[in-house]
Amino acid sequence: MKTVYVAMSADLVHPGHLNIIRTAAELGEVTVGVLTDEAIASYKRLPYMNWAQRSAVVAQLKGVARVVPQTTLDYVPNLLELRPDFVVHGDDWKTGVQQETRRRVIETLAQWGGKLVEPTYTDGISSTQLNKAIREIGVTPDVRRSRLRRLLGAKSVTRVLEAHSGLSALIAEHASAVRDNQKREFDAIWLSSLTDSTSKGKPDTECVDVTSRLQTVNEILEVTTKPIVYDGDSGGLAENFVFTVRSLERLGVSAVVIEDKVGRKQNSLLPEGNVQRQAPVEDHCAKISAGKHAQITDDFMIVARCESLITGAGVEDALARCSAYVAAGADAILIHSKSASPDEIFAFASRFREVHPAVPLVAVPSTYPQVSEDDLAAHGIKMVIYANHMLRSAYPAMEKTARAILEHGRALEADALCMPIRDIVTLV
Ligand code: SPV
Ligand code: MG
Repeated sequence: MKTVYVAMSADLVHPGHLNIIRTAAELGEVTVGVLTDEAIASYKRLPYMNWAQRSAVVAQLKGVARVVPQTTLDYVPNLLELRPDFVVHGDDWKTGVQQETRRRVIETLAQWGGKLVEPTYTDGISSTQLNKAIREIGVTPDVRRSRLRRLLGAKSVTRVLEAHSGLSALIAEHASAVRDNQKREFDAIWLSSLTDSTSKGKPDTECVDVTSRLQTVNEILEVTTKPIVYDGDSGGLAENFVFTVRSLERLGVSAVVIEDKVGRKQNSLLPEGNVQRQAPVEDHCAKISAGKHAQITDDFMIVARCESLITGAGVEDALARCSAYVAAGADAILIHSKSASPDEIFAFASRFREVHPAVPLVAVPSTYPQVSEDDLAAHGIKMVIYANHMLRSAYPAMEKTARAILEHGRALEADALCMPIRDIVTLV
């Protein structure tokens, strides 16, 4: 009997997939390579279902003899192992970004006289359409909460953008750009204390209380589906932090970051006059541990943020502290820096990785924006947070407009700085 290979993500199985499998089954015994989360995340959004769930669905489809993982977008490793007589794929990949993958399939099959069979693409239904529909329906707290851990497992670097309102969060949700032939999006949303309090006209000193911060979280949850990383400042008192953890978890937030600060809270990036002290290690550990005991799901993450590089205590102090935070239960470490170069973050990361290779590291390149995501990933950073860019870009634009109205005594000149009224009234 001839052998046939089909590869698919199979996140949202539709009649197009069934058509491919039917064609394949007519040619021989069908093996389906189900793309792993890592393979899919290398070129598009993380699938809704994990690999085990998607494989369980495919294994039960009529005509499928067995399922294997396909760990790269590229078919070649699996083809060399299975040496199938046929590969079946819809003819839609003759053009567009998959052309190169297709060419390599044809070239590899030729080594043993295998053939590529390409049934006409099934019109009227596509995963892209279904994805769009699902985004419109929304997401449950459980599904959203669990996505951050999955992203960290599947992507070399998870990309997080700050939002401080429903509108800025919509940008984080929908913004996309093509780079190196791949569509890029933000993976998650950062609930910055700096921009949440600044957009309320207040300083970043923990003077905006948790109830008010959660109001912003709720506004953002209502209009987005991506996971949320909440900036929990110092976390407050351990006995209060446990309630924050429960509230965030219940809402479907994926992670809280708490920083080892004590006393009057100041923003870490204040250029001079910063009087911030670091909390005693054992106090921060006690808070992390209280939070870990309070959470109900396995998915929720507590990220310990270390300020040793900000206060000048240095890399050794940061390493000692972060090891203690990990021992106390921290799921990840945010190592902050206000240096103009990423060097001290890299120095810390290489030492930390030796001791804790499995604990994700998070970086916030606000003062060293020249660093690329690829460079961060190469140094073992698993999450990058663009912590304040939505608000920092919005504010100067608004100020310029206000000044233009005052200078000209009318709105005509300001109008040129604004989006058209017909666009704003239909924006959301
Ligand atoms: C925030 O965005 O509020 C942060 C990061 O905590 S920083 O402003 O750099 O302290
Ligand atoms: Mg903050």
